[in-house]
Amino acid sequence: MLLPGDVDPQIQGTKQAPSGVGHTEIRRITHRLTLAGADPCLCRTAWQAWRVTDQQDVYIHGHHDSVLRSHRWRTIHNSAAYLIPHLRPDQQLLDVGCGPGTITIDLAQMVASGNVVGIDNEPMPLEQARADAQRQGAGNVSFSMGDVYQLNYPDGTFDVVHAHQVLQHLTEPVAALREMRRVCKPDGYVAARDADFAAMAWYPPQDRLDRWLDLYRCVAYSNRTEPDAGRRLLSWARAAGFEDITCSATAWCFATPEERAWWGGLWVERVTSSALAGQALDRHLATREDLEDIADGWRRWAEQDDGWFTVLNAEVLCRG
Ligand SMILES: C[S@@+](CC[C@H](N)C(=O)[O-])C[C@H]1O[C@@H](n2cnc3c(N)ncnc32)[C@H](O)[C@@H]1O
Repeated sequence: MLLPGDVDPQIQGTKQAPSGVGHTEIRRITHRLTLAGADPCLCRTAWQAWRVTDQQDVYIHGHHDSVLRSHRWRTIHNSAAYLIPHLRPDQQLLDVGCGPGTITIDLAQMVASGNVVGIDNEPMPLEQARADAQRQGAGNVSFSMGDVYQLNYPDGTFDVVHAHQVLQHLTEPVAALREMRRVCKPDGYVAARDADFAAMAWYPPQDRLDRWLDLYRCVAYSNRTEPDAGRRLLSWARAAGFEDITCSATAWCFATPEERAWWGGLWVERVTSSALAGQALDRHLATREDLEDIADGWRRWAEQDDGWFTVLNAEVLCRG
């Protein structure tokens, strides 16, 4: 039996770590989880989970209602403000991995005489996006199935190609950026924004939230994706061939009683009922009791008058 920190020789050498993620990092996280009381075979399990997801990308969150509720809160102002100064009324925009499309519809309002297409590789959020667009009378936006790795458009079709919180979920973020660059006009913009999980911060200290973060990152790594995507966006954009890249960072902050109840309540549900929970359980990265305990940590955090949480998001605006 392998001990935490050991690399299964059957697995070693057969995997490519997501860019920037070393074996040391995987060991560090899994070791911390073990110290926190997780399965002592966790490390082996994480590596095996990595092998399980060999063939195709696995979207960590899935499309449980608690996930889509969280995504529907997003607007152009709280999630894509860095792009607003570059929008013109007649532009053609592509929003990849648009999910339930609230940002996409906002983008369409900004380019009133232009057109916006939202694509996602899952049909369920697109149904919500279409219904929402119809409700709001947004006539210049459409939604269709599509894969960011193989966009169904000729070279140079769009003025702006946008992705919000998508690259962190891909095993090949650089390939995705190259494909986004291909369908963007030479003088257009490719814009991406992603959170950086290791840079999330909260108060008061709460060890069950520490375990939540470790578990989330471990599940993401077992999907061969990068949870600390934000800090890597610049390097990914450079690797995709962009020469003119503007970087920025903005944060979501949850601190009022209403914000804490919403954010904490979402995570209570997400950690127990979404695809994240299923992946953690299936790969023996957590037990049902662990997940309930982490959910209690979120409840406890949300109840505290001093409770404060920030999500750091990095942004890149790429040309050339
Ligand atoms: C975190 S959600 C972000 C949704 C939306 N952009 C937002 O911020 O509200 C990521 C979305 O990317 C989609 N996705 C994942 N892999 C994809 C791929 N290869 N091609 C297109 N969409 C993908 C998922 O289905 C999911 O809806």
